[in-house]
Amino acid sequence: MTIFGGPRLQGNTATVLGWVEDALRHGGHSVERFNTNGLEIKGCQSCFACAESMDEPGCVAQDGAQAIFQAMVGADAVVYASPLYMWSLSGQLKPFLDRTHCLVRDYRGRTTSRSSTGSRRRS
Ligand SMILES: Cc1cc2nc3c(=O)[nH]c(=O)nc-3n(C[C@H](O)[C@H](O)[C@H](O)COP(=O)(O)O)c2cc1C
Repeated sequence: MTIFGGPRLQGNTATVLGWVEDALRHGGHSVERFNTNGLEIKGCQSCFACAESMDEPGCVAQDGAQAIFQAMVGADAVVYASPLYMWSLSGQLKPFLDRTHCLVRDYRGRTTSRSSTGSRRRS
């Protein structure tokens, strides 16, 4: 699955993400895209209610993030795509990313994560 955090559906970020999705589909994977823009996802309130729930996301904030959490639990891989805003993630994506803290389980065990960024190559 992919998670797009930008307002422009035909912008550069969406275009590059589309290339990634096409390549994944070409490799035989099914890919579903979610867009955090417009979902009015609240920032994490640091209540740690999620820490009491080990078998489900457990986030008590009921908003558009919940459907994405459910998809993430069943996904083999998650690709995030954000436009560069003020040298950082977009405001559409960062609150959602913070909320995925509810999915973090067992820091030293089998849960692993990878992060990579892309940029235009200068010649
Ligand atoms: C609010 C805002 C902040 C931005 N901040 C940066 C920045 O810090 N560095 C940069 O190189 N470009 C910055 N840009 C330019 C965008 O990264 C660029 O327009 C990009 O193509 C936006 O992605 P999109 O085409 O998917 O909408 C900014 C644009 C906006 C609207």
